[in-house]
Amino acid sequence: MHPTLKLAQAALSAFDPVIAQTALEGLTAPRKTLPPHLLYDPEGCRLFDAITTLPEYYVTRTELALLERIGPELASLIGPGASVVEYGAGSVTKAALLLAALEKPAAYAPLDIAEVAVDGTVQAMRQRFPQIALHPIVGNFMEPVALPPLQTPLLGFFPGSTIGNLDRPAAIAFLAAARQSLGQGARFLVGVDLPKDPAILVPAYDDAAGVTAAFNLNLLRRLNREAAAGFDMDGFRHEARWNAAHSRMEMHLCSRAAQSVPVAGQPIRFAAGETIHTESSYKHARGAFLEMARAAGWESEACWTDAGQMFSMHLLR
Ligand code: AVI
Repeated sequence: MHPTLKLAQAALSAFDPVIAQTALEGLTAPRKTLPPHLLYDPEGCRLFDAITTLPEYYVTRTELALLERIGPELASLIGPGASVVEYGAGSVTKAALLLAALEKPAAYAPLDIAEVAVDGTVQAMRQRFPQIALHPIVGNFMEPVALPPLQTPLLGFFPGSTIGNLDRPAAIAFLAAARQSLGQGARFLVGVDLPKDPAILVPAYDDAAGVTAAFNLNLLRRLNREAAAGFDMDGFRHEARWNAAHSRMEMHLCSRAAQSVPVAGQPIRFAAGETIHTESSYKHARGAFLEMARAAGWESEACWTDAGQMFSMHLLR
């Protein structure tokens, strides 16, 4: 086949009508938005991994250090023989740290919508913890999920402040669904990023090396491929904003000029300086998070923070 035809065929086969529809819905709204889950194609996942090691992105290293510090206390609160259900399967290091801290954990069950992520995590854990039963679960954790029979005590685990990427109604719905899935008597360990000086927050989402900018802009490249869009990659720039009224960091893609961009056959017009809001990352103070947790039926058992008051770990029951 002629190379140009091959390229055209590859471009067509990458088209995804669900992504195109999702993109059109967000881009035709009065305030243009795109859902953050679209950031995570394979290249987006690679860039996110790179973000977690950036000097400005304090989140991952602070949570890891906190988890390590609270391990012994956590182990005595939870007791021996626990089963851990991890919400999301992207953080082998954190789950391994938790399992190593607990006393004789019985089982580990990573739950994620992406089968490859769940399988990869299980492979990694099998080598490190041959004595622990592994239960991969493929499902959407935004809804109640039927868990396999697991030895109690049961501990849900949701690290990374991923809960911060949900707005208040979605965060409460998520916490309520987890409570229903985990059932009576279970605990839930949730990593939650804290509000702090915007002079720390803004660089964490707009680093000097431009990795977060690449992560955000990659979304446009994805739409060019999967939503038959025609974004000029030089026509937009990454912007990170602290929104104090909502206690959240926001990522935007800002149009450098007035322009019209085709998306799935429809022209989308941008004014100069107009943005697409691509992600919110809520920073919840202790009381604000617990208020949401209570609305979802949980009670606070413990809450730890690092010495710099950057990040918190909540143990709910
Ligand atoms: C996955 N999530 C918790 C990250 C955050 O901090 O909100 C995603 C991220 N976006 C830009 N940098 C990191």
